[in-house]
Amino acid sequence: MTEQTRETCLAIFGGSGIYEMPGLTIEEEREIETPWGMPSAPVTIGRLNGVRVLFLSRHGKGHTIPPSELNARANVAAAKMLGATDMLSLSACGSFREELAPGDFVAVDQFVDRTKGRTPSFFESGCVAHVSMAHPVCSRLTEEAAQAAEAAGARVHRGGTYLVMEGPQFSTKAESELYRSWGMDVIGMTAMPEAKLAREAELPYAILGMVTDYDCWHEDEGPVDVASVLAILAQNRDAGQRTVAEIARMIGPERTPSPDGIETCLDFAIVTPPE
Ligand code: ADE
Repeated sequence: MTEQTRETCLAIFGGSGIYEMPGLTIEEEREIETPWGMPSAPVTIGRLNGVRVLFLSRHGKGHTIPPSELNARANVAAAKMLGATDMLSLSACGSFREELAPGDFVAVDQFVDRTKGRTPSFFESGCVAHVSMAHPVCSRLTEEAAQAAEAAGARVHRGGTYLVMEGPQFSTKAESELYRSWGMDVIGMTAMPEAKLAREAELPYAILGMVTDYDCWHEDEGPVDVASVLAILAQNRDAGQRTVAEIARMIGPERTPSPDGIETCLDFAIVTPPE
């Protein structure tokens, strides 16, 4: 290992059961308390294709925590405290484009954050910081995730804007048409403030949107419902697991810093002078 490299530690945030995959050796289920409280579930720590991995079931192990009540600060802090070098999020989403069909994966590269009332920052009064979110995902990890999903047999679209809504109700038709008119590509309820917090934690972040439905704008499809979302997610389970195994294999056990300077982004972000 050179001075520039660290042991890879890939954090995966996904649905319950995402860590139940062939080839994964589980070493520990860690209950970890962070300064922001407990994460959604114990973190599963293990090795996959020779790489240290951390898995977190974002909504809790029995899918009990709604998007608005996720403690995203504790989730991201747990990954950071356990030594994550990179963080890959897998997230079900609705599609605003005909060509982004249920079952496809989208390597998201932009967000519009329409969440309300979630705590979006680790920084509080006493220390003011403004990180750049102009390029909210790590370009290297995003390309690796896209290649891994392709190798896993998924149809992958590179680039896409993910509108993060508050929920938990799905959108009205008027909202769905508005977001389409804005040029949004996909919609979901979970990526924010997770992506902002990952940046504040100087953690390279990527997100694969797993398209489960056409929301409610599509004239030939019925409005989205939970049964259809779960059915597509079940069909995609193997592709999701193969994607994670493949990205671990591609990244390998040693990691250089992100080419985007993410690990040092706070150097230019903190306004409050040190005491
Ligand atoms: N997650 C999956 N499909 C969704 C949709 N249409 N809207 C919001 N979140 C979703």
